[in-house]
Formats: sequence, structure tokens, C-alpha cells
Amino acid sequence: MFDQETPLPPCNFVIFGATGNLASNKLLPALYRLELAGKLPEGLNFVAFGRREWDDILWRDYARTLLTNKLKADGADLERFVNRFDYLRGELNDPQAFLDLKEVLARPKLGVCSNVVFYLAIKPGDFSAVIKNLDGAGLSHPRGLHRIVVEKPFGVDIESAQMLNQLLHRYFDEKQVFRIDHYQGKETVQNLLVFRFANTLIEPLWNRNYIDHVQITVAEDLGIEKRADYYDKAGALRDMLQNHLMQLLTLVAMEPPPALEADALRDEKVKVLRSIRPISRRSIHAHAFRAQYKAGLIAGQQVAGYQDETGVEQDSVTETFVAAKFYIDNWRWRGVPFYLRTGKRLKQSMSMIALRLRHPPQQLFRETPLETLEPNWIVLSIQPDESMHMEIHAKQPGLDMNTRVVKLNASFRNPDEHPLDAYEALLLDVIEGDRTLFIRFDEVEWAWRVVDPILKYWAQERDFIHTYVAGGWGPIEANRLFDGEDTEWRNSV
Ligand code: BG6
Repeated sequence: MFDQETPLPPCNFVIFGATGNLASNKLLPALYRLELAGKLPEGLNFVAFGRREWDDILWRDYARTLLTNKLKADGADLERFVNRFDYLRGELNDPQAFLDLKEVLARPKLGVCSNVVFYLAIKPGDFSAVIKNLDGAGLSHPRGLHRIVVEKPFGVDIESAQMLNQLLHRYFDEKQVFRIDHYQGKETVQNLLVFRFANTLIEPLWNRNYIDHVQITVAEDLGIEKRADYYDKAGALRDMLQNHLMQLLTLVAMEPPPALEADALRDEKVKVLRSIRPISRRSIHAHAFRAQYKAGLIAGQQVAGYQDETGVEQDSVTETFVAAKFYIDNWRWRGVPFYLRTGKRLKQSMSMIALRLRHPPQQLFRETPLETLEPNWIVLSIQPDESMHMEIHAKQPGLDMNTRVVKLNASFRNPDEHPLDAYEALLLDVIEGDRTLFIRFDEVEWAWRVVDPILKYWAQERDFIHTYVAGGWGPIEANRLFDGEDTEWRNSV
């Protein structure tokens, strides 16, 4: 999947927020795996930009230890990787630090290089300072070769997203902007397109005639870790649903694009977002539900409640669980509810897309011991396991007419095939300049438009939030969203 123009690989890659959560949990391990796979260009150098009073040596020690602990990294590959790095100490809002950066980028070691990736692995609140300071130091190069990678959430609502976009476009051309949503890089998510559009068996079922409803779940057993500063202002709707879950919804619901090109794919996703029925103020309760975790047990360990996490405001009503129902008013999906749900401190980490098919007629089996036939499901598991299967009924061997559910398994990874991390795939795309899996601004804008009424309503309801005990599947009250009486959340693959 490539953009029409395939630009040159970069020679410098600057990570802002190099000592932060995202860089240590996702970026460094993924870049190291790319090193191991021989995918990093020979002349590619990294600059770790952070606040700690470190120098190159201390940074490399830090990176070495981190990768050894996380990935058992060692030997020549690890040394080659850490030696690609320079460390630059600086504050994101200090223009001088960006002049220093310009100097580092011009060092003879790195040669004369006109192609730099700037990765903003920082809080959204710091984006604007960095963008302006890059420009102030002459590092933005509109229509140049530099690339800027921006992590979600893009803004905190539609207005701020538009402002952020205007700011980006003042200094960078759209072709230089990579808006990352790492769910796009997950293997099952990419496989969804193949599953749907490369199998004659599947596509005829994929519509309102056969599908009763769709469930998209992203459950995490983790809490907010050390991110209260960001999370308490964001909440689950902004942190997960507006971006990751909405992206999954678009891929499930979209029409086949004419080609696997960046814009063809994004055009189809935008059409889905534009077809989502707007939620009126009066129907918010029927469409959206929020809650917050209390203390509880996860895998036998006692964990604190949200309000007791360090940095969370007293009496915060920030949601750590959100469930929502959307209708897509087009010919394919009219009347089919899409239930989306995500939460922290749930029973286990598990992400999946599950489509329940319509009930078969029971008439034929009326005189048999079968009371009800459970409907069929199509289930795509995103993590921890990557798998796809369909559930159908088969007769149980024996004298009675009983059935059991049989899984038609379409797992796609052989035991010797190494699972790719989403960031591995996406970082390689950034280096290669392929924007297919990155988000275009109109996708961001339309996704904000969809959730905006919910955000506005919740912003006014500041005195109450439902709670749930950590270690469960979230509050029972979330079931109020269901249209069908026989609908329930599916909690396992
Ligand atoms: C991030 C959110 O975008 O995704 C985090 O900010 C969340 O809150 C994470 O934990 C989940 O990603 P993954 O790949 O672990 O499912």
C-alpha cells in the first residue's frame, strides 16, 4: 500500500518525549525490532529529546537497560541501535532548545541532511509549542522533505482539532503530516480488509440483511499508569473511543475502496463517519454511558480506585469506561446498532470485533429438545491473540436432536511466524513515507463531530458518574444501550 509518490528515507529521526511512557513502552521496542529485522536505513540517526539532565552516554545506558529488560536485547544489534542515538536535553517550550536541535542535526556525523522525522511522543497540550518552536528554528520547511508525526488525540474537541490542524498547516504541508492511530497498524485490523474483500463467502453476509448488531470492545486491565495529568482531562471517550474504536468501526462498515491507496481508503472511511446518525441531546442517555473504576482485584492483586490514583483531581468525574451505540444510516447498515465499549481496569486486556448474525427461524426445530438456537457470530480477535472465526451450529452426535457451537477457525498466523507490533509497522511506514495507514484530517474532524454531543452533555453533568469495581467487565447499567432484549456484551473470543 503506497502513496503515489514514495519519498526518500529520512536520515534523522527526532523523538520528542524520549523518556516518556510512549517512547519507552512502544517506540523504542518497535524501532529496535526494526533494527533486528534489518529495516532501518544505514544512515538513519535518532535524536532523543528529553527533559532529564542526561548526555549521550547516560541516554544510551538507559536505552540499553530498557531494551534488555523488555526484549532481552543484547550483542552487536543492541550496540548498533543505541549508537544511532544522540541525546538532547531541552524543554519543549524553550526556543533555544530548538536552535540546539538544529545544531545537533547539522553535526558532521549526520552529514548534510534535508530529511528529518519529528515524532511528537508528548502530551497534546505541548504540540503547539513544539510546532511553533520547530518553525522558529527554521526546522519546519513547508513543502520540504521533513515529516511530522502527531499522536492522537488530535485536539480535545472539534474546535481544538481544527485549530491544531490550522497550526500544522501553517508550517507543514499535508503530505508531511502523519497522524498516527496505532490501532491501524494491528495485524487483525489490517487483515479485516482481506477477510472482508478477498472472500466471496464473507462479503454477501456483511450487511443489514444478515447482521443483527456489531460489538467492538477494547478492554484493558491496566489503570491510568502515571498519566493522570493527561488522562484526567481526557477520559476514555477522548482517549480511546473517538479514535481507536471509531477507526475500527469505519473499517468494519466501509464499502470496498477502488484501490488500496491512501486516499481511496480514507475516502471510504470518511463516508462511514458522515453517515453516522447524529445523536440528539435528548437521546444521549440511550446512546452513551460512562463510568469510573473503584478499587478492586485484578489477577489476585489489589488495585486502587481511580480517585485514589496519584494526580487525579478530587471528585473527578472523568470516565474510565465508556459504552456507546451508533447507527450508520446508509443502505448497507440501516437499523443495525454498532455497540462500542472500552474501559480501564477491566477483568482482562482483550480487544475484539464481534458481529452477531440474525436469529435463524426456530420453526423446524419446534418439536425437538432444542429450546432456542443461539445466533451465529463472526469474531475477529485483535489482542491478546490474533484470530478470526465463525460460530455455527452442528448436531451433537447421539440419539437426541441437540446442537453445539462449532468454531470455523480462520487463524492466520503459523506458530513460527512472529507477531508484529502495531508500532513496528507504522514506524516503518513513516520512515518509508507511506501514509496509507495514517489518518487524514477529515476523518479526525468527522469522528469529533460524532462524539461531540456526548462530550458537551457530559461536560455539564459534573456531579455524578457511575462506578464499577476494578477487575470486572464494567457496570451492568451499560446494558441500557441495547436494543434487543436478548443482547448482551460478549466478553470472550
Ligand atoms: C493509547 C491510549 O492510545 O492506547 C492508552 O492512550 C491505551 O490509554 C492504549 O492504554 C492501548 O493500546 P494497546 O495497543 O495496548 O491496546
